[in-house]
Amino acid sequence: MKILFAAAEVAPFSKVGGLADVAGALPAELAASGTGVQVVSPLYSFINQQKHAIESIGITGSVRLGLTSHPFEIAKCVNSQEPRLECLFVINEYFYSREGIYTRADGEGFEDNTDRFFFFQKVIVDLIIRGILNPDIIHVNDHHTALIQFLLHNRKIDIPTLLTVHNFQYQGHFTVAESGMLGPNDRAELKANSAVDMENYNALEIGIRYTQHTNTVSPTYASELLEQSPMSFGLHNVLLKYRERFSGILNGADYTYWNPQVDQLIPFNYSHAAMTGKLENKQALAKRCNLPFNSDIPIIGSVSRLVESKGFDLILEIMGRLLSLPVQMIFLGTGQPEYQEQLSKWARKYPDNISFTAAYDEPQAHLIEAGSDLFLMPSRFEPCGLNQIYSLRYGTAPIVHFTGGLADTVQNWDGNTGNGFVFDNYDSETLLATIHQAVNVYQNLPNQWNNLRENAMSADYSWENSAAAYRKLYQQLLAKE
Ligand code: ADP
Ligand code: GLC
Repeated sequence: MKILFAAAEVAPFSKVGGLADVAGALPAELAASGTGVQVVSPLYSFINQQKHAIESIGITGSVRLGLTSHPFEIAKCVNSQEPRLECLFVINEYFYSREGIYTRADGEGFEDNTDRFFFFQKVIVDLIIRGILNPDIIHVNDHHTALIQFLLHNRKIDIPTLLTVHNFQYQGHFTVAESGMLGPNDRAELKANSAVDMENYNALEIGIRYTQHTNTVSPTYASELLEQSPMSFGLHNVLLKYRERFSGILNGADYTYWNPQVDQLIPFNYSHAAMTGKLENKQALAKRCNLPFNSDIPIIGSVSRLVESKGFDLILEIMGRLLSLPVQMIFLGTGQPEYQEQLSKWARKYPDNISFTAAYDEPQAHLIEAGSDLFLMPSRFEPCGLNQIYSLRYGTAPIVHFTGGLADTVQNWDGNTGNGFVFDNYDSETLLATIHQAVNVYQNLPNQWNNLRENAMSADYSWENSAAAYRKLYQQLLAKE
């Protein structure tokens, strides 16, 4: 079985959030267990080609968007440690020679994102038509690649396709004018399909209609999407219509990279059997963030895109009252300017208690996981969430809202069982009470804290099980052919 795995971001090459982690780890796990996989993503100019040994393989071509023909070239990572895994890249200076993947440094999306990802998808289709890519199954991810099956269908090419939706908030809306970038057959097909919303085209919706199966990244999020209409931001009816071919598979964690025993990005490695490194990392973290170190006071860490859905409204509402607790808080993230401004303001006013770094910083993200005692992730909704899974392995108890993948991975500490702190009502008072409870266990109940931490560190969310679930799904799709 040969899988073509297409994604807009792939770690370690390019990353904004969890999609990249998944696109880096799932194909590698599939390959390690014998499935042939090719990964394809754009070659953004910020990717260090020398470091990753990415070289052109001499395949070139061009695809048309409307009246304009755009050239491309294909490159490959020749350094891949896993011979069954091939990482391919689409080169085009005009579209991908920018600092960001989706947005400028100020957070504004590029105006031509529709063209940039239409282009990417058309290149993949072109390579399939020319027989350069010859997969048995295509696995596409999010709206950036959701149209591939639709494009193939209109060119009478039949390859079963799985669409994984990592977050239903982002759907890839495009206008009628932008649809002109597609081919004449594609426009005719869009017009002929009365189910498609022609006022406001939606790549994700088209993807769900045309692919053979759609899945999302946790079982609970999949149920929430079917049961609660607002969760899918307008796609509830489409999901209900196709519910027989919709499911949830929990993401895994790459424990070769997110594991305090082997993590190369933290100063002190540790494990549950040898925990001294954790305290040393806490000291290093405090120093790096210019906070006075005090081992009695828990550090609450956060690494996140700064967007409303991650719970920043709740956090900012109770920030003043959190300061009356014996805690220090460390935030790392970029995103909506208003959250950046408010977090900066709090950090300036209380430099001994709050640190905020407005940056994308991989080593700091690892140090926060390792050096914090608690990890704050009160997302309003969360398709899967990876940071709470990483936190468990680092013995950093997650504080999470009972939703989506957070509910599937963190169990509330009840004095005897559990691996973190979970609250159900999404409001700031409940969050504050939960943080109180977590601080109390940390400060006053050391035996409980040790047991909780042991449960957290022994939880196993490795990719093995999830990759097996994907392989089963691929086999089912092939069998239906
Ligand atoms: P989402 O994909 O919704 O952003 P996830 O929890 O699935 O949420 O994944 C987020 C990933 O992005 C994690 O690997 C996290 O460490 C990383 N990340 C987010 N913001 C930053 C940042 N500012 N610096 C470094 N890593 C970050
Ligand atoms: C999305 C979701 C996040 C998930 C990630 C990887 O960005 O917001 O919950 O973990 O994709 O699937």
